[in-house]
Amino acid sequence: MAIRNIRMETDEILKKKSKEVEEIDEKTKELIKDMIDTMHKYDGVGLAAVQVGILKRIVVIDLYDEKPIIKLINPVITKTKGEQEVDEGCLSFPNKYVKVKRPAEVTVEALDENGKEIKITGTGLLAQAISHEVDHLNGIVLTDVMIPGTMEYSQPESIQERKKDKKK
Ligand code: NI
Repeated sequence: MAIRNIRMETDEILKKKSKEVEEIDEKTKELIKDMIDTMHKYDGVGLAAVQVGILKRIVVIDLYDEKPIIKLINPVITKTKGEQEVDEGCLSFPNKYVKVKRPAEVTVEALDENGKEIKITGTGLLAQAISHEVDHLNGIVLTDVMIPGTMEYSQPESIQERKKDKKK
């Protein structure tokens, strides 16, 4: 188990575009494990490799809903549907919360850690998380997509509720 340092909001690396993973090797697998440990340590629902300083197109997502942790390598969003306005935070922006518009449904195609092609369709929080994390891979952070004037410095109720659900 290894917790990596999370790059914070003023770090220029967060604005950079991540590169495709060409080969899934032991280093990639170790990175994915560390990303999961780091996400869990800080109670996040998702983390992109760039947030631990690695410009590779890798994302992990855990909604703490008893479903397996989602690991996406080279994810591509192939379909979106509808829209939801939601509260959002980011481990790179501690204590900042904004409102954003995200698709209500997202379909993503990617490779898993064994190089197998996977396709996931998610709604609600999963659609939000996929879209937030794929933005990170393109150098886009939540302050780039927030609805202007919606920043808050304490955790909105909807996110607190989400955490309560997780602990059940
Ligand atoms: Ni984030």
